[in-house]
Amino acid sequence: QRQKNMRNFSIIAHIDHGKSTLADRILQMTRTVADRDMQEQLLDSMDLERERGITIKLNTVELNYIAKNGETYTFHLIDTPGHVDFTYEVSRSLAACEGAVLVVDAAQGIEAQTLANVYLALDNELEILPVINKIDLPAADPERVRKEIEDIIGLDASEAVLASAKIGLGIEDILEQIVEKIPAPDGDLDAPLKALIFDSAYDSYRGVVLNVRIMDGIIKPGDTMKLMNTNKTFEVAEVGVFSPKPIKRDFLMVGDVGYVTANIKTVQDARVGDTITLANNPAPESLPGYRKMNPMVYCGMYPVDSSRFTDLREALEKLELNDAALQFEAETSQALGFGFRCGFLGLLHMDVVQERLEREFNLDLITTAPSVIYHVNLTNQTQLVVSNPADMPEPGVIESIEEPYVKANIMVPNDYVGTVMEISQHKRGNFIALDYLDNNRVNVVYEIPLSEIVYDFFDKLKSSTKGYASLDYEMIGYRVSRLAKMDILLNGENVDALSFIVHNDFSYNRGKAIVEKLRSIIPRQQFEIPIQAAIGSKILSRSTIKALRKDVTAKLYGGDVTRRQKLLKKQKAGKKRMKQVGSVEIPQEAFMSVLKID
Ligand code: GTP
Repeated sequence: QRQKNMRNFSIIAHIDHGKSTLADRILQMTRTVADRDMQEQLLDSMDLERERGITIKLNTVELNYIAKNGETYTFHLIDTPGHVDFTYEVSRSLAACEGAVLVVDAAQGIEAQTLANVYLALDNELEILPVINKIDLPAADPERVRKEIEDIIGLDASEAVLASAKIGLGIEDILEQIVEKIPAPDGDLDAPLKALIFDSAYDSYRGVVLNVRIMDGIIKPGDTMKLMNTNKTFEVAEVGVFSPKPIKRDFLMVGDVGYVTANIKTVQDARVGDTITLANNPAPESLPGYRKMNPMVYCGMYPVDSSRFTDLREALEKLELNDAALQFEAETSQALGFGFRCGFLGLLHMDVVQERLEREFNLDLITTAPSVIYHVNLTNQTQLVVSNPADMPEPGVIESIEEPYVKANIMVPNDYVGTVMEISQHKRGNFIALDYLDNNRVNVVYEIPLSEIVYDFFDKLKSSTKGYASLDYEMIGYRVSRLAKMDILLNGENVDALSFIVHNDFSYNRGKAIVEKLRSIIPRQQFEIPIQAAIGSKILSRSTIKALRKDVTAKLYGGDVTRRQKLLKKQKAGKKRMKQVGSVEIPQEAFMSVLKID
């Protein structure tokens, strides 16, 4: 009976279409969180999470809804991460559901991530309930959006709920549709335990907290559980649900979505996507789709103060406990000293990690420009995997270099198609298709090297389309490209941490631009500093940082003491993010400057 009245679903949406606001409304409406506690309670648990240093995220909520038919239903609302870096996790979260509420902004219509999420939901064979949100907006055009949903996605939208999460319109209709249209979970209570891990977080008291969906069977404290892909066993310490605070339960049974703790020390031991079963009564096979997450982007991280290398190692080890996708290994740079080469799922992931290292561990870091992973085919018929441009072998032994490509879907209003194509072409994209979604919107499809996307592609796209373009991409594999390593020499010395990989067609222009850029951001010294960009022994561009003239500040700021002090203070603050390389001081920006040039 309990199983028959369960409904497990996610809310999926393009960024800012109102997913979180709708989730909040649903919590209020079902009295999971009392109106007056709404704000308070959420903030409380956030503080707690902060103190304990676990993820600040509402993962799943169990809530009870009394439907119009008089019956009580148990809903599990499963949150999904919003960013394309974390698509894999979205897909795992959806695998824990039978249905998805698809939120589309009534003014914006369908965007790239709307489609990407719909495809993921379809892959998982979910029932999709379209909701047209923000109908309170003056610019709302629900009928146009309804038509888009039918024409572009091919879903029947005749019963799509018109809602405003902001003013609380249509929420009950959504809940009723969840009851009527989303199927109850199937699965067998008497079969051996099969539970999908779709998310995990690290808690310093309880170890790893696994978010699970029970597909078959039952799990309770004291059971010896086994992870089917890693073959590790643990004794279950606690099971429960989030509502939204954790509530202990005696067991979790088929259809339930909740948490399991078992004194697991690192998230690597129990990865997202793995299947839990019982050691003494194992399921014959694991659930499909277990995949180790592999980093797509690498960069070097170095402490500004070299004596803090050990602190950085400890910080990374701590972060690794709750971030299964983070990878790192020690490396040395002639220029920067001892540090780590770190791998990330994407640039957002990289930013988050850097920010956490600096804020939570009080470290000042120099990070080098992000690089993708290259496959280098050598003349001796072997292949080298290179994630640090400085490790690229000499041109003489290289047969060819392959780089990762992605298929990019870019959605824009008609007027910007030309602009988008120009940018994509300029980023070495191969045009694939132009799909008209309706009278006014187009999906432009390109195959583009991942390295170009990693650079400033999205920023460019946004700024040249007044923010209208939305982007989604997926890896499609490796292709041979005409690439080479560009070295930067300061004062005649090769600074390994500034090396980057460049396409032959752009080498001259990029070399020139980067030399100019470095000239403007590296502070002057008492002596002249020549800057050169070179491929192999061939110098492509050169420039010089002029020597300081004497007493510039004295003349400019001599009269105004406070102003001068301010300047000195500012310089001091800026100093923190500088690295002395030989006789030259290089600021953090210099390492990122390769990202900001054409
Ligand atoms: P991310 O968390 O960034 O993925 O966005 P989201 O999809 O969760 O959107 P969120 O709920 O944060 O809403 C984005 C913005 O839209 C917020 O400023 C909301 O206040 C606003 N918003 C959400 N629903 C409505 C609505 O029904 N009407 C109006 N006018 N604004 C809304």
